[in-house]
Amino acid sequence: PYAIYRQMRQYGPLYRTARGNWSTVSHRVCNTVLRDRRLGVEQDEYLDLSMLGMNPPDHTRLRRLAQPAFSPKTLPTFRARIERTVADLLDRAESPGGSFDLVSAFAAPLPISVITELLGIPDADNREFAEHGATVGSALDGIQSLGQAARFQASQAALHTLFENLFALRRREPADDLISHLIAAEGDQIQPSELEPMVFLLLIAGFETTVNLIGNSTLALLNNPDQWEALRADPENLAPKAVEEALRYDPPVQGTSRLALQDLELEGQHIHQGQRIFTMLAAAGRDPEIYPHPDTFDIARESPADHLAFSSGIHYCIGQPLARMEATIALQTLAERMPKLRITGPVRRRNTTTIRGLRQLVVSAD
Ligand code: HEM
Repeated sequence: PYAIYRQMRQYGPLYRTARGNWSTVSHRVCNTVLRDRRLGVEQDEYLDLSMLGMNPPDHTRLRRLAQPAFSPKTLPTFRARIERTVADLLDRAESPGGSFDLVSAFAAPLPISVITELLGIPDADNREFAEHGATVGSALDGIQSLGQAARFQASQAALHTLFENLFALRRREPADDLISHLIAAEGDQIQPSELEPMVFLLLIAGFETTVNLIGNSTLALLNNPDQWEALRADPENLAPKAVEEALRYDPPVQGTSRLALQDLELEGQHIHQGQRIFTMLAAAGRDPEIYPHPDTFDIARESPADHLAFSSGIHYCIGQPLARMEATIALQTLAERMPKLRITGPVRRRNTTTIRGLRQLVVSAD
C-alpha cells in the first residue's frame, strides 16, 4: 500500500475521493481531523464497537469506566505475566536446527494470553474466545463473500453464548478483573446492553492489532539486517525504539475515518455534514514533511512528532501502553535469546486492508 500512499500525496493534503468523501495522507491534517470535535464516529456497519463507535457524552462515560484497567498503576502488574509468557513461548518454539512460524508460535498467543487475563476469561476458554473473536472481527474489513457471512454469523452466535456464560459466572462470583469491574457498574455507568459490545471491543482490539505489531516489527528487523544487528547489540535500550519505528513504518491499523457532524471548512475545502474523511494513519507515518527518508526503517530515528499508529484525539488507543509493553518485551527477548534469528521459510501476508499483518513468518534461531 505504501506506493499507493505515495501517489495519493500528489493530490494535496486533503482531497475529494471519487465517491464524494475526503481523504488525507498528511500527518498534520490526519492529526487535525482526529482532534476536531466537529467530526465524529459512528457504529461500524456490521459490528457494535462500543465506545469506538460513539461520540461524547456516551464515549466519555464508557471510556472513563474502562480507563483504570490501563492506568500506570495497573499496568506493571502485567509485566511479569508478559515476561513469563514470552519465555515459555520461546522455550516451546525453539528446536535446535529447526524452523518455526513466529506468528502462530509467538506473536499470536502472547496478546491472547494478556487480554484474556485482563478481561478475566478462564484459560480453558482462551482459544475459543480468540478464534471466534477473530472471525467476527474480520468483518471490520467488510464482508466479501457468502462463505464469510456464514462464518461471521456462526462465530457471532458462539461468541454471544460464551459471553453470556462468562457474565453469568462473574455476576455470581466476581473476581479482580475488568469484566467484574464493568458488571459492578452495570445500571449506573454502563447499561446491560452495552456490556457485551465493550468486552468484544477490548477482546478484538487487544489481540488483532498486537499480534501484527510483533509480526510486522520482527519482519522489518529481519529484512534490514543492519537494524537487527543494532538491536542485538543493545536490546534493552533499542527495543522500545524499534517498536516505535515499526509503528511508524508498518502499523497494524492502516487507517480510520471520521464523519462530519456539521458543515465545516478545513484546509480551504468545504466539507458537508455527513461526508467522511479517511485519515490514512500509515501514510501519515511516511509523510516526508515530518520524517526524512520516510521509507527507511531506522530504529535510531529521532522523530520530531509522534506517529499516529494509535490514532489521536479522544479515541486515542486506550490499550497502547499495554501493546507497547508486550511488543517491547517480545523484541527485547527475541534479540537476547535468538541473536541469529533469520527468515528461513514462507512470509505470508494476511489479505486484509485496514488491518495489516502477517499470516505466517517462518524463521530459524540458528
Ligand atoms: C482504539 C490501534 C492495541 C484497545 C484504537 C485506535 C487505533 C488503535 C488506531 C483508534 C481508532 C480510531 O481513532 O478510529 C491499536 C494498535 C494496537 C492496539 C496499533 C497494537 C499495536 C490495543 C490493545 C487494546 C486496545 C492491546 C486493549 C487491550 C483499544 C480500544 C480503543 C482503541 C478499547 C477504542 C478507544 C476509544 O474509542 O476511545 N486502537 N491498538 N488497543 N484501542 Fe487500540
